[in-house]
Amino acid sequence: MFVPNFRRQPLYIFILFQIIFFILYYTFQNPNCIFSPKPDYEWISSEKYISIDGKQKHLYDHNMPLIFIGGMPRSGTTLLRVLLDAHPDIRCGEETRVIPRILSNRQSWLKAPFESKRLQEAGITTEVLDSAIRAFILEIIVRHGKPAPRLCNKDPFTLRSAHYLQYLFPNSKFIFMIRDGRAVVHSIISRKVTISGFDLNDYRDCLKKMEHSHDSYGPEKCFPVYYEQLVLNPTKWMHKILDFLDVPWNSTVLHHEKLVEMGDISLSKLERSTDQVIKPINLEALSKWVGHIPDDVVNDMYKIAPMLKKIGLRSIR
Ligand code: A3P
Repeated sequence: MFVPNFRRQPLYIFILFQIIFFILYYTFQNPNCIFSPKPDYEWISSEKYISIDGKQKHLYDHNMPLIFIGGMPRSGTTLLRVLLDAHPDIRCGEETRVIPRILSNRQSWLKAPFESKRLQEAGITTEVLDSAIRAFILEIIVRHGKPAPRLCNKDPFTLRSAHYLQYLFPNSKFIFMIRDGRAVVHSIISRKVTISGFDLNDYRDCLKKMEHSHDSYGPEKCFPVYYEQLVLNPTKWMHKILDFLDVPWNSTVLHHEKLVEMGDISLSKLERSTDQVIKPINLEALSKWVGHIPDDVVNDMYKIAPMLKKIGLRSIR
């Protein structure tokens, strides 16, 4: 039997305080777990399907193997989604815009302590919120285009929430587009693509703000694709990408322009890359930026954007 040794009393008191501290800390962090009893009921969603002309039924749920494409805007994300759209088993479609917004709203709701407390008080627990966001994202992805065995979403900034998306959709896979930061910034500035927080008159500022946080996603579910390598060697890279996605090879992915011409790939008139992706895969954009970046920015390049060194690109003026 355990008999406390009272000569070591200070140690016991210390351990007791530690335990009390952890209980209080846990209670404070998860007020719902301690104070609200688990409900003795459960909500179950009904089976969902979309029906076309009342004939075909397509079942869908959050265990579908969804594909998410993301990265910095101007890093070739639209090209990749169109190449995948050319595969008969995949449908991506246009940017949804509302998916990254709901993800960022959720972050702000949970980050603001008062707001988050009010939600908990109103019964909108993290579980309820997650379930609603999961349903919202799924409905948008499924219903904004044609059915296909593999559905894909391309909204550049969704990959900021890759871990959360992985939790919502456990069988999803992620493709992270990476392009030389100098080319991305030149594209943003020369095409006047507004991105919140980016000063479109300042190469230095834009380079600083660029994020390349793909390391944290882990190689198993997130596949990094370099724009330069994709356009230089599309056959090799499309093989790699389809292997990663567990989708059989189909050479249609190398000639998306034919399907675009026939109207089989849906493009938005309002997206900034539409007039570029209607063309066959080309090398035009590889070096367009050369000579446009101010000298002082080129000289400080690795200080301003250390990720350039990390992704192994040589400085070209
Ligand atoms: P530039 O603006 O430098 O021309 P995103 O769709 O992520 O915004 O990326 C846009 C970039 O992808 C553009 O870069 C564009 O040229 C490039 N791109 C689009 N279609 C392409 C194609 N068919 N072949 C090669 N690059 C393409």
